[in-house]
Amino acid sequence: GAWPLTTDIMIASVDNPSNAVEWALAEMMNKPELMRKAMEELDAVVGRDRLVQEPDLRSLNYLKACIREAFRLHPYHPLNPPRVAMADTTVAGYSVPRGSQVVLSRVALGRNPRVWADPLEFRPERHLAGDDAAVALSEPELRFVSFSTGRRGCPGIALGTLFTVMLFARLLQGFTWSLPPGVDGVELREAEASLVLAEPLRLQAKPRLPAHLYGPEYDCSSRNL
Ligand code: HEM
Repeated sequence: GAWPLTTDIMIASVDNPSNAVEWALAEMMNKPELMRKAMEELDAVVGRDRLVQEPDLRSLNYLKACIREAFRLHPYHPLNPPRVAMADTTVAGYSVPRGSQVVLSRVALGRNPRVWADPLEFRPERHLAGDDAAVALSEPELRFVSFSTGRRGCPGIALGTLFTVMLFARLLQGFTWSLPPGVDGVELREAEASLVLAEPLRLQAKPRLPAHLYGPEYDCSSRNL
């Protein structure tokens, strides 16, 4: 029906991006070196005189590598939606008889030590192929699950990528993030019943762009955002 479909699309377009961005930011607060690289890339590609725009996103490879790393290490759901094999088949050497229910574990794929060195370490560099090769959020080889693949893979790759990278890019370009006074690191703990951050991320945001870029309604010089 139309209602569940639109609800699914809302969930896909809000929860997936915000979970990835929250985890990436949380990880990077504990690794200032990664934050510095992301900010340097934004300053080089966009500068500080205008807001990051859609055409910039293709050049923000380090930023996209950070989001890929968040999808790999911190998927929003532990499992892919179950699928039923329509015919006998073989996948990666496993025989899958017709009628089998197939459930992929996103956690097991993304943290597979045979594929990823130091799998629990947040390390965006592992997604950079070098030579300025473009980084994409999709992962058709399923070494981790972002949008999955195949006929039932996510049809919203372009839009989902746009939402996620733009949200992250605007948050980083627009603000210098710091820990609240008296806090000396973000606790990177998953909630007990899901994979989201156990405690919502609490940070201080300080505007870093000229005040007019935040819109006429904000005078950032006089307001504590
Ligand atoms: C960062 C954002 C998003 C992520 C990480 C994501 C991820 C996924 C994944 C993993 C699946 C399951 C694929 C499978 O079972 O193999 C899926 C399905 C789906 N997604 Fe997305 N998605 C995102 C955004 C969107 C957006 C923006 C839309 C629509 C505007 C969308 C629409 C759908 C639909 C309709 C399906 C069901 C496809 C089917 O069962 O045939 N998604 N998504």
